[in-house]
Amino acid sequence: MIFVAAVTIASCGGGGTTPATVDAPPDSPAATDDPNSTDIPPRGEDLLMPWLAAGHYKSWTCEPAPHAQVYPSNHGDNLACNNSILHTAPAGIGNYPLDAASVKELYAFDDVTLVGYSVSRKITDDLGDGWYWFEAKDGKTTDGMATEPAKVCTACHQCAPRDFTYAIAP
Ligand code: HEC
Repeated sequence: MIFVAAVTIASCGGGGTTPATVDAPPDSPAATDDPNSTDIPPRGEDLLMPWLAAGHYKSWTCEPAPHAQVYPSNHGDNLACNNSILHTAPAGIGNYPLDAASVKELYAFDDVTLVGYSVSRKITDDLGDGWYWFEAKDGKTTDGMATEPAKVCTACHQCAPRDFTYAIAP
């Protein structure tokens, strides 16, 4: 089904090339955050954690089972789900559509114990990083756009083959 072009990104950051500039767009006031949406994750820990617990994303297009992280990922064992907007995006290059989103369940090595979540959602049609990033793991939360603290996410995701996203929507 989906995944992952790890081979094509091996040069990013590893070959002495300068990574693409990451823009830092402001949070988009136009983007909506509906806690009852089944397809679009709301932003912000207070809305997003209960939304994740409700499990709406489990009806998205998901990997069949948790797997070890794929280079250059540092996510640990995980299982990713893509919403219909990401999943049905036309193949090619360029930005994904607004509100394309992924939820990644993060697992302990037993592939059974859920230890957190990573979430990405396309918020602005920016040529640089137009994504909202969220991660909750080991009692630590990362929540925001390309500015701190989500810079840690974009620093690696800018190496992805298309629009900061490693998932390959068919
Ligand atoms: C060191 C590199 C690296 C860092 C840092 C990183 N990621 Fe990822 N991420 C990956 C790779 C590689 C994949 C796909 C393969 C995998 O998950 O094993 C991925 C997949 C994802 C996915 C599934 C959608 C996609 O792009 O494939 C989400 C959601 C995600 N990451 C969110 C985050 C968030 C949020 C942060 C910051 C808190 C973050 N990531 C930090 C490398 C990274």
